[in-house]
Amino acid sequence: MKVNGTPFRTIWAEDGGRRVRIIDQTRLPHDFVLVDLTTLDQAAVAIRDMWVRGAPLIGATAAWGMALAMAADPSDAGLARAFDRLVATRPTAVNLRWALEDMRARLAPLAPSGRFDAACARAAAICEEDVEINRRIGEHGVALIEAVAARKSGPVNILTHCNAGWLATVDWGTATSPIYQAAARGIALHVWVDETRPRNQGAHLTAWELAGAGIPHHLIVDNAGGHLMQRGEVDLVIVGTDRTTATGDVCNKIGTYLKALAARDCGVPFHVALPSPTIDWRIRDGLAEIPIEARSGDEVAFVHGRGADGAAARVRISPEATPCANPAFDVTPARLVTGLITERGLCPATAEGLAALFPDLAGGA
Ligand code: MRU
Repeated sequence: MKVNGTPFRTIWAEDGGRRVRIIDQTRLPHDFVLVDLTTLDQAAVAIRDMWVRGAPLIGATAAWGMALAMAADPSDAGLARAFDRLVATRPTAVNLRWALEDMRARLAPLAPSGRFDAACARAAAICEEDVEINRRIGEHGVALIEAVAARKSGPVNILTHCNAGWLATVDWGTATSPIYQAAARGIALHVWVDETRPRNQGAHLTAWELAGAGIPHHLIVDNAGGHLMQRGEVDLVIVGTDRTTATGDVCNKIGTYLKALAARDCGVPFHVALPSPTIDWRIRDGLAEIPIEARSGDEVAFVHGRGADGAAARVRISPEATPCANPAFDVTPARLVTGLITERGLCPATAEGLAALFPDLAGGA
């Protein structure tokens, strides 16, 4: 997508793969800052501390992290160390493990002298595949928006949670890809952007993205969505996912489940944009089997922003002694999901629906 007229992706390599450039997402929306990653350690910190985030981008960064590791130490021990270091950075988004297992399976049989080049080639391919997957998610998902537009006058109102936009992927985004493609087809749209406490990915990132693309939107507090749905002001909810089970249970940013409950109560369709690397074919019960990341309570106790003087500010909002709990994701059971939007088309959130679209992957769990 474009930033001030210049096309950008969220990650790319320079110097033949020895330098990986990312957008430091902790600095948005106020500063657009590019950061160079040149070591395994830097790639791991970038994922852990959320300079990059969003399931597909975490996977892409891990792949490039493996390439950086192979530049320094392509031995078997170096490969194992890189895998272990990167896989421990964030537990919930399965794209991380997917990308690392893919890289390890390709690199392990090679002689160490060939591993760096092969790692660069595969990391670059994973990025290209992500862009194409998300573009296709948009092509399929746009039909849902077109259907609403055909039966109502005025803009189609879409609610989204967290940031499942291009910043969460290599390009396009997942939940936002149908939105961008609908806008390109001239469909009138309006997006309700959940702020997404505690880290405010909606306020910091999705609002910035939509403004950059010229798509009408309003930022709302996380608690407003149910009210808007009751009043008929939401036509469609589209969210992303960090891990979806083979049976269609969807794990996404904390608060997604509450939106799904409200949507069900109000009869609002609740769709999940789902790239196939985000499907964990090994598990069937999201509540029991998906590890939920517990992040620092400081993310709840403090908010980040820009002060009246224009300087970056970090402000405590709770008493010093208040203990904070910070589960970062929740699971929406498949029964609350109207449908999944994948790169191969739309399907119900069921084992049969997923297996029908991905017969080549569903059996391999
Ligand atoms: O903690 P984050 O910011 O990495 O969480 C991101 C989300 O929950 C997204 O909705 C999800 O990764 C889908 S991204 C296309």
